[in-house]
Amino acid sequence: MLSKKVKELLNNQVNAEFYSAYLYLDFHDFYKDAGLDGYANWYWIQAQEERDHAMLLMQYLQQQGERVKLEAIDMPDKELKEFIDPLKAGAEHERVVTGLINDIYAAACEEHDFRTMQFLDWFVMEQAEEEDNADGNVKKFELFGSDGKSLYELDAEMKARVYIAPSLVIG
Ligand code: FEO
Repeated sequence: MLSKKVKELLNNQVNAEFYSAYLYLDFHDFYKDAGLDGYANWYWIQAQEERDHAMLLMQYLQQQGERVKLEAIDMPDKELKEFIDPLKAGAEHERVVTGLINDIYAAACEEHDFRTMQFLDWFVMEQAEEEDNADGNVKKFELFGSDGKSLYELDAEMKARVYIAPSLVIG
């Protein structure tokens, strides 16, 4: 059985992951509007991954016999002007999410909730990948994004990303 604190944190994380999906849909829309279809594609897929994260957390809560409370999702509020803005905001956001995952892990650890810790292991490593990808996007744009031809090629590279469902399936 989950403790009240761990349950609340996991439930909050369902909302945080759906917020991430919502935020990345906004980034998708920004790039779509700008004609950068590759970057739009990258965030379209990222939004699907975030939805998957939320649903995995929901499944885990359900498997523990808990009812999930779906709360209102905040409006995306990042100011997007320059092409690099979503990339920087995305990298910053992923660090916030890593902090949230770590907080749940710490709470589970304190309560010797080994099952939740093991469940969260996947998320801990996923955050390492998410931060690495987000930082890589910023770096590449800083190196090549100011030149039209290079930006065209970068955008084509982002367009190659395809959606892969997470292999972690519960229940
Ligand atoms: Fe679900 Fe991007 O972390």
